[in-house]
Amino acid sequence: MTEDYSPPTSEWYHPTEDIVEHANVPDYEAVYAEAQDDLEAFWAKRANTLEWHKMWDKVLDDSNAPFYKWFVGAKTNIVHNALDRHTKTWRRNKLAFIWEGENGDKVTMSYWRLWQEGNKFANVLRSMGVKKGDRVTIYMGRVPEIIIAMLACAKIGAPHSVVYGGFSDQALADRIADAQSRVLVTADGAWLRGKIVRLKDVVDEAVRRSPVVDTVIVVKRTGHDINMEQGRDYWYHDLMALPIASRYCETEVMDAEDPLFILYTSGTTGKPKGVLHTHGGYQVYTSTTLEWAFDIKDDDRWWCAADPGWITGHSYIVYAPLILGATSIIYEGAPNFPYPDRWWRIVEEYGVTILYTAPTAIRGLMRFGDAWANRHDLSSLRLLGSVGEPINPEAWRWYHRVIGREECPIIDTWWQTETGGFMICPLPSVGLKPGSATRPFPGISVDIINDEGKSCEPGEDGNLVIQGPWPSMLRTVWGDDQRFLDQYWSKYKEQGWYLAGDTARRDADGYYWIIGRNDDVIKVSGYRLGTAEVESALVSHETVAEAAVIAVPDELRGNVIHAYCILVNGVDGSKELEAELKNHVGDEVGPIAKPSVINFVEKLPKTRSGKIMRRILKAEAQGLPVGDTSTLEE
Ligand code: WT7
Repeated sequence: MTEDYSPPTSEWYHPTEDIVEHANVPDYEAVYAEAQDDLEAFWAKRANTLEWHKMWDKVLDDSNAPFYKWFVGAKTNIVHNALDRHTKTWRRNKLAFIWEGENGDKVTMSYWRLWQEGNKFANVLRSMGVKKGDRVTIYMGRVPEIIIAMLACAKIGAPHSVVYGGFSDQALADRIADAQSRVLVTADGAWLRGKIVRLKDVVDEAVRRSPVVDTVIVVKRTGHDINMEQGRDYWYHDLMALPIASRYCETEVMDAEDPLFILYTSGTTGKPKGVLHTHGGYQVYTSTTLEWAFDIKDDDRWWCAADPGWITGHSYIVYAPLILGATSIIYEGAPNFPYPDRWWRIVEEYGVTILYTAPTAIRGLMRFGDAWANRHDLSSLRLLGSVGEPINPEAWRWYHRVIGREECPIIDTWWQTETGGFMICPLPSVGLKPGSATRPFPGISVDIINDEGKSCEPGEDGNLVIQGPWPSMLRTVWGDDQRFLDQYWSKYKEQGWYLAGDTARRDADGYYWIIGRNDDVIKVSGYRLGTAEVESALVSHETVAEAAVIAVPDELRGNVIHAYCILVNGVDGSKELEAELKNHVGDEVGPIAKPSVINFVEKLPKTRSGKIMRRILKAEAQGLPVGDTSTLEE
């Protein structure tokens, strides 16, 4: 989507000798070749770094592709590897995480404590009747309890469905209904920029709309007055004080292919897709990618500044760092509140060694100038990371120079909710070019394919595909196998390739450059939104007859949303109506989905078959030539 994308540069950044020498994987080429040579042996070796209740009979079962199965016949539970096993080693007293609330609250949690808290809450859930296979929805801010709740669910084999705390009541209700969750875990509120986000109010409305929920467990975070419904709502701290909340809890032994979680993401239709991940392959792939790409060592302080509500948080705040026995930093709030140096102060105060964030956050902080960062000692940093959208070379260079003292490699990781873990990214020993996610991770084959199914020449744009299965691939779309097939596997069905939905190109050095989505998905500040979701929110307003939305490149947010609305007869567009519609979308989907511009129009450009030609709207919005209009109706 980012049309301001710069073409490949020949600007190279090579890692220092020190980085290469001490890297967990000093030779990318050798490991990549090893994986290509025997993929199953490669993943079996990685799986052997973890503990299993029963070993697999077969590494990969491709008999029913693309419904691939990994580590078939194995018994395991990701929580055994993330917590249980550490409590039997010296790591029991190591910090799992250091948490800092926006209001200054601090929590430090050792592996031992986290294991106990997880066990206690797992017992609470069991006492509420949650059984293996039952889905539990989690809707709260970035507080320690969200991690405890996720781990507790996984421990008893109940797939969690975490819904990002910025989503609206309707979005939450849709996700509850799709997952059919009886139990919901939430908080009274969350702190954001000095204000309370009233989460429990949103929950009350969502549960009114999706009455399948009969139990709501509420973490007290902000302490403001909320509605507690007798017989449905319980305080987390009350339940955790009951004798039932014992510190010991048997971990459910799962099949490698049993569901671990559902995570909803936007697709090409209005209905969100429940991406399904499982216990076995996911634990192998996420831990391997983190260990190798971010070079995690026992003395690191790892800070993934994402939200647990997104895949980045699931894989790289919760599961992979815990499997590796790492110490994480987790924070609540915003990068620039109360001051634009909050992050740099955190890096200094806790001695963060690796920081992983999104281009939109980097650009946002860059705007405040170098002085805020320069006030702090950032010399503990060893590696930096980027995710969510292409990073523009200007932001890359600022991040590298001002935050990384020109010494820290930038690990730009391309992946998706569906892939579970990094797919294209450098290892620290790989040479970098600003704006390129570099090369595929060992065990991963990718290509750029044109519409005729041929591999593109260097420099030519095409569809990014993944050729062949990987352990943390999505297993299906929850309750909708057909959508899984149609969305990802139908375009290159014969070849059996996974269609990522991104346009990309490869340069002469074999480096990959992601250009952006080529489907009806929009990335705003790294958040993924479907045009259909925003459009259906617009037409749900009484004044709007028809709507089309497009992504327009934006310096800060990557893209912003422009909407085109045809109003119902007798209603005229006005500044007031524009404001009202923006808020309406905010209420229906979430604040992130608010269009930045709404145009009132008489007609929308359509093909003769009635499809809206967003390409024409996009060209017009940016003052570019509209191109081929031969399929335009009039
Ligand atoms: C889409 C997936 C993966 C966690 C966060 C996003 C875009 C992601 C990069 C990157 C260029 C990127 C792609 C992708 N994307 N990382 N490093 N460079 N683009 O997960 O919400 O599922 O979004 O984000 O367009 O398809 P997601």
